[in-house]
Amino acid sequence: MKKRKILATSALPYANGPIHIGHLVEYIQTDIWTRFQKQRGHQCYYLCADDTHGTPIMLRAESEGITPETLIKNIETQHRADFADFHVKFDHYHTTHSKENQELSRLIYQRLKTAGHISTRTITQAYDPEKEMFLSDRFIKGDCPKCGAQEQYGDGCEKCSATYAPTDLKNAISAISGAKPIEKESEHYFFELPHFTEMLQQWTTEHGNLQTEVSNKLAEWLQGGLKQWDISRDAPYFGFEIPDAPGKYFYVWLDAPIGYIASFKNFCTTENLNFDEFWGKDATTELYHFIGKDIIYFHALFWPAILTGANFRKPSAVFAHGFLTVNGEKMSKSRGTFITARTYLEHLNPEYLRYYFAAKLSNNLEDIDLNFEDFSQRVNSDLVGKVVNIASRCSGFIKKRFEGNLSEKCSEPELFQTFIDANESIANRYENREFSKAMREIMALADKANQYIDEKKPWIIAKEDHRSQELHETCSVGLNLFRLLMVYLKPVIPNLAIQAETFLNSEPQGWVDHLQPLLSHKIKAFKPLMTRVEADKIEKIIEASKANLEKVTTKVPTKQFEPIANEIEFEDFAKIDLRIAKIVNAESVKGADKLLQLTVDIGDGKLNVIAGIKSAYSPDDLKGKLTVVVANLKPRKMRFGVSEGMVLAAGMGGKDLWILSPDEGAVAGIRVK
Ligand code: MSP
Ligand code: ZN
Repeated sequence: MKKRKILATSALPYANGPIHIGHLVEYIQTDIWTRFQKQRGHQCYYLCADDTHGTPIMLRAESEGITPETLIKNIETQHRADFADFHVKFDHYHTTHSKENQELSRLIYQRLKTAGHISTRTITQAYDPEKEMFLSDRFIKGDCPKCGAQEQYGDGCEKCSATYAPTDLKNAISAISGAKPIEKESEHYFFELPHFTEMLQQWTTEHGNLQTEVSNKLAEWLQGGLKQWDISRDAPYFGFEIPDAPGKYFYVWLDAPIGYIASFKNFCTTENLNFDEFWGKDATTELYHFIGKDIIYFHALFWPAILTGANFRKPSAVFAHGFLTVNGEKMSKSRGTFITARTYLEHLNPEYLRYYFAAKLSNNLEDIDLNFEDFSQRVNSDLVGKVVNIASRCSGFIKKRFEGNLSEKCSEPELFQTFIDANESIANRYENREFSKAMREIMALADKANQYIDEKKPWIIAKEDHRSQELHETCSVGLNLFRLLMVYLKPVIPNLAIQAETFLNSEPQGWVDHLQPLLSHKIKAFKPLMTRVEADKIEKIIEASKANLEKVTTKVPTKQFEPIANEIEFEDFAKIDLRIAKIVNAESVKGADKLLQLTVDIGDGKLNVIAGIKSAYSPDDLKGKLTVVVANLKPRKMRFGVSEGMVLAAGMGGKDLWILSPDEGAVAGIRVK
């Protein structure tokens, strides 16, 4: 067989949230496919990266009070751990916020510009005068022009499903600051997609590049005429600045797919690979992008056009898949079916989900449904009941009666050969991403193996004759068939396959074309390889996913932090006399529902302080506590008495207010400086 050179990618997940089970459809699908290619002996690389740019990431970092760089680093760490724990094994994982990606984005942009594929023009857009930024549709809220529903976003109404322009919204406000948007002009950069109409007409219909449904959909779009694509965004934006265009940034969707190339480029720094062999204009290696059906436009129109315009190769094919639904409905936070990878991992074996997805995945765009009842039943009956069961039925006799040695000859060469012969058809299913059909064929073989054992009834033979040859041979055949099943399932459940190899005391298995049965071979003790899905674990996952939601919604509405005040001299600071103080008494103030009257001991005396902290503390919380006060503040006469100092506290107010307290060991009276 000729060794193929293959590069496969999954879409780059956004770095603004955790990986969830919907994402996993794609990463597991690509992982199974690339593991299969490697098992067949091909030179195959699976690359990915985090997609780190854009307004939502910028705003989320801001609301968490961290830099976008810190945010995307933290998220990358989480993403990597989630993938690793699901056995999604990338050959390389990178980030779009990288040197390679910046260089390649610039290079591609320069080439497009030189070739005349970039134009500029001034457009009018909604602008938030308070936040001083342009607002995309999803950041404008208002009342639906059709049904009047409040709090609808600029791109459409969730209540009545009307679609409209954000300018049609009634009482529109910025979702970021609440300010009323104004209209403002700005110069934008456009990619001349129409220049590539002819190329795309051909490429999208060429056999094998796209699934038929996708190519039909694109034909409609092409017929309607392609439009220029706006590839620039104004500052403030988290991304790469456009060369020679200060304050203008590449739109995230321009540099995101370039991240595929950048990931490969970075991979080349450690791997001895020829860049042009994979990405050059005349590359003959295979390049596949696995994506969800929501991002077809970007991958099957913009991307091939950009690559062509910038003198790179085009993909060999783009493979789109459908969306995950749970129990027949869209994943929903309130129903507890918006399940993150981590929540799942805290309760269940990742290989259950890998197998279940494999058993449902086809090579078309149909959505796939995770039905929990079906999930438990499938995993329990197929993996545990059929496959693993073969090993547990046969291994005990081999171990106890035959010192762990398999028989000298294979008593069922034909049955064994049937299992080997199935390899071609199973391989074709994997190759064509018809995983559900592959699983069905493999389970049909597992049924055959179980039938064989049922007919032979080793447990009866064992009673009649302690060490009969028939018992020995039957169990040895059983284990050899189990071994072949595990080879076929290895791309899907790699961890179980390794455990099986260990138990069978055999080498890591490639594909089975020439596999001989294990004979006169010593195996190791059998440990339970996989247990059944417990129903209560699923309940727990749903509960935990609902609880995740509460954590998010009960969180303080994240406000922006105040800007840092003007610079001061040290002398200015030294004027403030801060002291450790002990709260010796605290009382409510009659007629004031926000105030507490505190008596604080500052070592050489006491101060009477009126503090607006009642919303967060009761008098009893405070008595005896150490805190920090401003001790030299000019006494202030208030409606409820004189306040002689000020307690230091942080927070937005209401329940979210925290007084400061010193570390253990400090005593009242010490100056803080
Ligand atoms: N960042 C872009 C992709 C850039 S590729 C140059 C993006 N990120 S994403 O995090 O929203 O989605 C990543 C992939 O997961 C996409 O292919 C998307 O279709 C897929 N899925 C996200 N939710 C999904 C489901 N509920 N079901 C199946 N796939 C889903 O898009
Ligand atoms: Zn409406």
